[in-house]
Amino acid sequence: AKLAILLSGRGSNMLALAEAIKTGPLRGLAEVAVVFSNDPAAPGLEAAAALGLPTASLPSKGRKRAEFDQDVVAALQAYRPDYVVLAGYMRVLSPTFVRAFAGRIINIHPADTHQHQGLHAYEWAFDNHLPETKITVHLVDEGLDTGPILAQQVVNLEGADSLAEVQRRGLAVEHVLYAETLADLIKRNAAQPEGTSC
Ligand code: GRF
Repeated sequence: AKLAILLSGRGSNMLALAEAIKTGPLRGLAEVAVVFSNDPAAPGLEAAAALGLPTASLPSKGRKRAEFDQDVVAALQAYRPDYVVLAGYMRVLSPTFVRAFAGRIINIHPADTHQHQGLHAYEWAFDNHLPETKITVHLVDEGLDTGPILAQQVVNLEGADSLAEVQRRGLAVEHVLYAETLADLIKRNAAQPEGTSC
């Protein structure tokens, strides 16, 4: 399956997915069609290029959401992705975008999406001294972190005395869970291709 990986920042999940394609659960199942960013200066874009992955970007700054997303959809479609994988893509997708790749957009969120949506989930867990958080991988629909949940994993936060420590524990789980969940999804969809179910 061809993946379009979308990011806006650091790109640690993108790197974990690239590694999982080389030597982990995504081996033989996926390839990176493109790493795309809405920020041409995103460190994750440079990290992808350093790995020899195809990259593309369109600056979202100052653009209207619907119009920008139309350009992004067109740019991504040139790579014919089977899945659009959000990896720290800091934009809410417009309905046009979601419909263009319906059921094939996947996101990772550092909290239970039933309890927390949107930005700053690790800050939320840390500020509220939560004993745990629940990393969530889900399909993206037109709402903010409201799509069907594919997998969740609890991270113990007891004794995590800094935000950095909370993030360190959480990201370690994210990096494993995302690749595994994506591998399961690809296998499941390959076993039952679209249109053949009754
Ligand atoms: C991750 O915590 C992810 O769950 C959230 O954004 C962050 C991206 O981090 N959606 P990175 O760019 O993958 O390092």
